[in-house]
Amino acid sequence: MSIISKDISKAVALLNQEELVAIPTETVYGLAGNIYSKKAITSIFETKQRPRFNPLIVHIPSLDYLEKIVDYIPEKAKLLANAFWPGPITLVLKKKNTIPDIITAGKDTVAVRVPNHPTTLELLNQLSFPLAAPSANPFNRISPTKAVHVEDYFKEKIKMVLDGGPCKSGIESTIIGFENDEPIIYRLGSTPIEDLENIVGKIAIKNKKDIAPDAPGMLERHYAPKTKTILTDNLQKAIKDYKGRRIGLLLYDDLLNDEIIDFKIVLSKEKNLQEAASKLYDALHQLDKEDLDIIIAERLPDFGLGKSINDRLSRATKN
Ligand code: TXA
Ligand code: MG
Repeated sequence: MSIISKDISKAVALLNQEELVAIPTETVYGLAGNIYSKKAITSIFETKQRPRFNPLIVHIPSLDYLEKIVDYIPEKAKLLANAFWPGPITLVLKKKNTIPDIITAGKDTVAVRVPNHPTTLELLNQLSFPLAAPSANPFNRISPTKAVHVEDYFKEKIKMVLDGGPCKSGIESTIIGFENDEPIIYRLGSTPIEDLENIVGKIAIKNKKDIAPDAPGMLERHYAPKTKTILTDNLQKAIKDYKGRRIGLLLYDDLLNDEIIDFKIVLSKEKNLQEAASKLYDALHQLDKEDLDIIIAERLPDFGLGKSINDRLSRATKN
C-alpha cells in the first residue's frame, strides 16, 4: 500500500506521536519530526543514515515565530526574512538554549526557515512545535522533488509522505549565516544571490575551505546519482570520450540529434533557469534508473539560479 497521502490531520496525528512524516516544501521534500522529541530527531538521523555532526534546519510557520527559536536577529537578517519568507532562504542565527543540541549538532547557532508551501504551512499552524526537516533522501543521494521519490527511498521506514505535488523551486534553500552581523552565504540555493544583494547589498560566499566548521554538511559529496556522472562545458568532446558506452545526457536547452545517445533530458527548451531548477533532481532520478554507463551533464550559465544548479551538479559528479 502506498504511504503517499494528502491527509493533513493524519500527518498532525503522526507527528504528535513522535513519528516522522515526509513533508512537501517549495524546494525539496523534507523528512520531518518534532524538534523537541528526542525519539523523532534520533529517528531522522537513523532513517537518513546522516552523521550526527550535520545539524538540521528548523521549519517554523511564520516570521513572528522566529523569536521563540533564536536569541538575536541582526538587522540584515530581519530585512532578508521580511523580503523572502515564506520562501527558500534559511538563516543561521544564535540559538535559544531551549533548542536541543541534537538539532544543532552542539553548535550555538540554529538554521531556520519559513517554507513556502500551503500544505506545510497549514500543517505547521496545526502543530504546537516546529519541525526539523532535512531533505528526505538517504545521506549523499539525490534530493526528492516528488512524493514518489521519497516513497521509493523510505517506504519501509516511514509511515507517511504528505503529498503536496512536485516542488516548484526544485533545489534546496539558500543558507545564510552572519559574521559580525553581516550576511555570508553558506550554501547556494533556490534564492539567487543577486536577489539577496538587491535587499542587503554585496554578500560574500563562504570559501569552500572554511565552510566545514560553520556548515558541516557542505563538504560532503552530495545530490549524487549512483551512475557515474560528469559535468562539462564541451558536450561534443565528452560524448566522443565515452563513445560505445551507454550515455545519458542532461542538457540545458539543446536537443542534439546524436545516435549514440541512449537517453537525454532537456531541462528548459526556453532557457529558463527557474524551469531548469525545478526539473533538475527529477531528471537525475530518471537518468539514474536507465542503467547507463555515464551521465554527461552540461554546465549551465553561471549566474542566478544557474550558479546554484552548477553547484549541485558539481557535487553530484564528485566521486
Ligand atoms: O530547502 C531546504 O533547505 C530543505 C527543505 C526540506 O527545507 N532542507 C535541507 O536540509 O536542505 P538539509 O539537512 O539537507 O541541509 C541542511 C544544511 C546542511 O548542510 C547543514 O550542515 C546546514 O544546513 N546547517 C544546519 N544547521 C546549521 C547551522 N547551525 N550552522 C550551519 N549550517 C547548518
Ligand atoms: Mg540534503
